[in-house]
Amino acid sequence: ERASSEQTVLAKAHLADGIEEITVHSPVIARAARAGQFVRVLPWPDGELIPLTLADWDADAGTICLVVQGVGTSSIEINRMQVGDAFAGIAGPLGRPSEVTAYPADRRVVFTAGGLGLPPVYPILREHLRAGNHVTLIAGFRSAELLFWTADDERVAGLQREFGDLLEVVYTTNDGTFGVEGFVTTPLEAMLEAAAAGTGPAVAEVVAIGPPVMMRAVSDLTRRFGVRTVASLNSIMVDATGMCGACMVPVTIDGKPIRKHACIDGPEIDAHIIDWDKFLPRFGQFRTQEMRSRVRHGL
Ligand code: FES
Repeated sequence: ERASSEQTVLAKAHLADGIEEITVHSPVIARAARAGQFVRVLPWPDGELIPLTLADWDADAGTICLVVQGVGTSSIEINRMQVGDAFAGIAGPLGRPSEVTAYPADRRVVFTAGGLGLPPVYPILREHLRAGNHVTLIAGFRSAELLFWTADDERVAGLQREFGDLLEVVYTTNDGTFGVEGFVTTPLEAMLEAAAAGTGPAVAEVVAIGPPVMMRAVSDLTRRFGVRTVASLNSIMVDATGMCGACMVPVTIDGKPIRKHACIDGPEIDAHIIDWDKFLPRFGQFRTQEMRSRVRHGL
């Protein structure tokens, strides 16, 4: 009985060190979910609500898929949950769904996914393929042992079977142990240069999801080439209603500094208006509290 109740973990897969894929029974969210949206999970009743972008869902099976990296107290606890365990609560889907434009066949949409940015990229990329767009996925990892969801994996292979030539996948590792040696910006720069020189297809849009420094590097690069770029921000969130300010994103519009909030204005924000110098330090702000919490919980 327990196994079929809401918010119960139905399956788990170990993807890489500290990274688990968790399938949860959540039929209401699975029916309503759209690409780019996130949920907030409460692992135990008095726990901390943490935002997680949906990696996948299945409306017929009534399941959602979350990929979690154990970095703080809550995420480490979530990754320790076993099949049959239930979350205290899952709210969602939240955030604005991705805007998917259908482009002509001679223009590509390029996704840059860094490490744990790959699962949230997956549903958005699938939406672009369904719209008929030519898509390049550049998936970057630090090293070969951290790879998951590669071309051998059923998820990526399934997209390749379904969409064939519409999808091109490039892997990078910082140490060159798999795919192209370098960062996601290495093949991206080559593509943008080829497009500018007229020797490669035009790039219509770039989507960046991953560590903030990676998204900034992508944004700086695409700005040089004047290519529209969207960053999907998995910010620190507290209330997810736009009231608390925890997920504030400093942006500049028409020369004026403005505050956007990843929870209600995002998670996707035009990367070229983000004030990265002010934004990046925000990711370190809870580190001390997080460490204290981990010590307190013996993790
Ligand atoms: Fe509080 Fe966005 S999480 S304003």
